[in-house]
Amino acid sequence: MIIIKTAGDIINFFATTKVKTLTTGFVPTMGALHSGHISLITKAKKENDLVVCSIFVNPTQFNNAKDFEKYPVTIEQDIYLLEQAGCEVLFLPSVAEIYPNGLKTITHFELGFLDTVLEASFRPGHFQGVCQVVHRLLEIILPDKLYVGQKDFQQSMVLKKMAETNFPSLQIVICPTQREAGGLAMSSRNMRLTSTEKKHAVTISKALEYIKNNIMAGYIEDLKKNTIEYLSTQGFRVDYVEIADANTLKPLDYWNGKELIVVLIAAFLNEVRLIDNMIVND
Ligand code: PAJ
Repeated sequence: MIIIKTAGDIINFFATTKVKTLTTGFVPTMGALHSGHISLITKAKKENDLVVCSIFVNPTQFNNAKDFEKYPVTIEQDIYLLEQAGCEVLFLPSVAEIYPNGLKTITHFELGFLDTVLEASFRPGHFQGVCQVVHRLLEIILPDKLYVGQKDFQQSMVLKKMAETNFPSLQIVICPTQREAGGLAMSSRNMRLTSTEKKHAVTISKALEYIKNNIMAGYIEDLKKNTIEYLSTQGFRVDYVEIADANTLKPLDYWNGKELIVVLIAAFLNEVRLIDNMIVND
């Protein structure tokens, strides 16, 4: 695997005729890699001649300074996992490479409704930060396909919207959420949980499964309310339990039993904020 640290070197790498003719799959990450990330690399390997992964803990998408400071960094292990998975190029830029004009030069991305609900309302500015970094990375790497995880359901929708306007020929591939044996969605933030907390965190995916298995057409407000109450009694500080149209993310209080819907949960277990989701009728 080649490790490239500057935008100039990536551009030179792709400018060579050998590389120019190859199809490229790109997997952006913030490192602290786990099998969820690696599943994206594996999928990209199957569908492209060349796979590029980036690792960059993006300061502009953290609305909480402590969360940024405590974000796990495991670069040596990451390089090992990427090499094992057959990733060809790792882009490992500095803040100055990604934000050559400083962190304050903000481009506004028009995300409409998606920038007002759920994650956007609890983490103001988060998706603008995500779009800034992914836009910059796409501009440098110019891949054919971008691989993202369903784990970050709203982020996948946001990136689709950003790409529609800015990179119309880019294909976005959304990959299924990888889970631990008990059901806990894999996440870099799980590294911040103690082993007792990790066992307890499974409650979130169990709650999603409960809703998925028990939801019926009709009014669904009580199901959401009861789940919030249940998680609270289990020691979680709940940001939201929402059931939404899976195509628009519009929250629903009534389900006609037919439209594709997704259940989304965000909750703190002590200091660590966890998010997860499940499509009900896929
Ligand atoms: P990060 O949290 O490192 O995730 C990188 C990619 O891996 C995202 O597309 C995410 O949805 C996917 N992913 C994470 N956990 C997963 C799991 N359990 N199963 C499948 N895929 C999973 O998301 C980000 O970084 C950043 O916001 C980023 C897009 C890189 C921009 O900074």
